[in-house]
Amino acid sequence: MNPPAGALSRSAQRRQAAREARYPCVADLVEGARARLPSFVMATVEAGCGDNAVVRRNRAAFDDIALLPRHGFGRCEPSLSVSLFGRDYASPFGIAPMGLGALVRPKLEESLARAAQAANIPYVLSTAASAGLETIGRIAPDVLWFQLFGLPHNDHRCTFDLMRRAGELGVQTLVLTLDTPVRAHRPQDVRNRLAVPFRPGPAALLQMLGRPRWLADMLRAGPPGCESLRPYVDGPATPADLVRFAATAIEGGFSWALVRRIRDRWPGRLVVKGVLHPADAREARAVGADGILVSNHGGRTFDAAPASLDMLPKVRAAGGDGAVMVDSGVRSGLDVVRALACGADMAFLGRPFLYAVAALGEEGGDFLIRLLREDVRRTLCQIGVSTCADLGKVETRSMRAGGAAHQP
Ligand SMILES: Cc1cc2nc3c(=O)[nH]c(=O)nc-3n(C[C@H](O)[C@H](O)[C@H](O)COP(=O)(O)O)c2cc1C
Repeated sequence: MNPPAGALSRSAQRRQAAREARYPCVADLVEGARARLPSFVMATVEAGCGDNAVVRRNRAAFDDIALLPRHGFGRCEPSLSVSLFGRDYASPFGIAPMGLGALVRPKLEESLARAAQAANIPYVLSTAASAGLETIGRIAPDVLWFQLFGLPHNDHRCTFDLMRRAGELGVQTLVLTLDTPVRAHRPQDVRNRLAVPFRPGPAALLQMLGRPRWLADMLRAGPPGCESLRPYVDGPATPADLVRFAATAIEGGFSWALVRRIRDRWPGRLVVKGVLHPADAREARAVGADGILVSNHGGRTFDAAPASLDMLPKVRAAGGDGAVMVDSGVRSGLDVVRALACGADMAFLGRPFLYAVAALGEEGGDFLIRLLREDVRRTLCQIGVSTCADLGKVETRSMRAGGAAHQP
């Protein structure tokens, strides 16, 4: 007999169980990725910018939040689904946009998009992703969101054309990344000479030789490019040409006036990503954004940014009744629940999905989604909550504030 839709076959269950024993949490996937990737690739994924202060701050903010459990409800079968932008998603988390995924593993974006489509969770494709918009649109027609950086040259001809292509594919949610007004300074990338064009020095060459499976993948698939940008580069562009174009043409410094122009042209849902200041949340609402993604880019852009979780309640309060989401530092289902208890409608994860695919290949995305779902489910039972919508009523405590109620 075939297993019901969404259930695992017996052999897949055995594989899942074996993997759960080996990778019971994201930290184990990090080590799995480290064993697979040359250290200059691992470094560029793991690190933030500057001294990595914000990477640590993001984690500290999540670890700080205690949830006050309620008991006495008997059997627990919580519902994990959430309603966002007029549709239901099966889980309260999604996959954040990340560029150049194929540096981690060929066809990484394809596999994550497929996993998101199967699990009915949002998948946000980056402007700078290795895979092209049309390819991913075919794989994940129901759950695809598209992230835009500004491409200001030629009065935003490419920006508006990318929006047109996304609209034609049926993408319903457009995400504008606001927190990259300048190129970030990432010392480890400078040390590793990770620049465009990439000219590996002796150290990087040795690292690549030390990771023969990764090297074989790269030799087979070729170097990663930014396929969505191909129509804007003259002639038969190589992947390196596409990355070079992205590096020079992308200038994500959106003005609110430009966000309004985009709003006027985009009929679907509009989300601004990278908002931390409540005043910017008000600006976002004023220009007609439907949602705000509170984010510090996983600590990758500005090394004195506050933790996004710390700013979430204030942005929620300023953002009116629009959707508010959060990313940066989410590493477990427990963190997803913490994010929702602090006011988010949905949480997004970035790096954990790269680690999962690096460690487990094609099935990494499915594996991590199941791991997170199980952790969300367990946490909801532990605190006595039966639906994600009820998480706003959970009492939260900040341990940094001596156990006081976590206040907006
Ligand atoms: C390797 C990498 C590439 C990223 N590329 C993009 C991008 O192209 N566009 C964007 O808006 N955010 C990008 N981000 C930021 C993520 O969307 C997200 O905000 C961040 O990863 C969340 O933090 P987390 O990794 O701690 O979960 C990138 C993050 C990483 C780790």
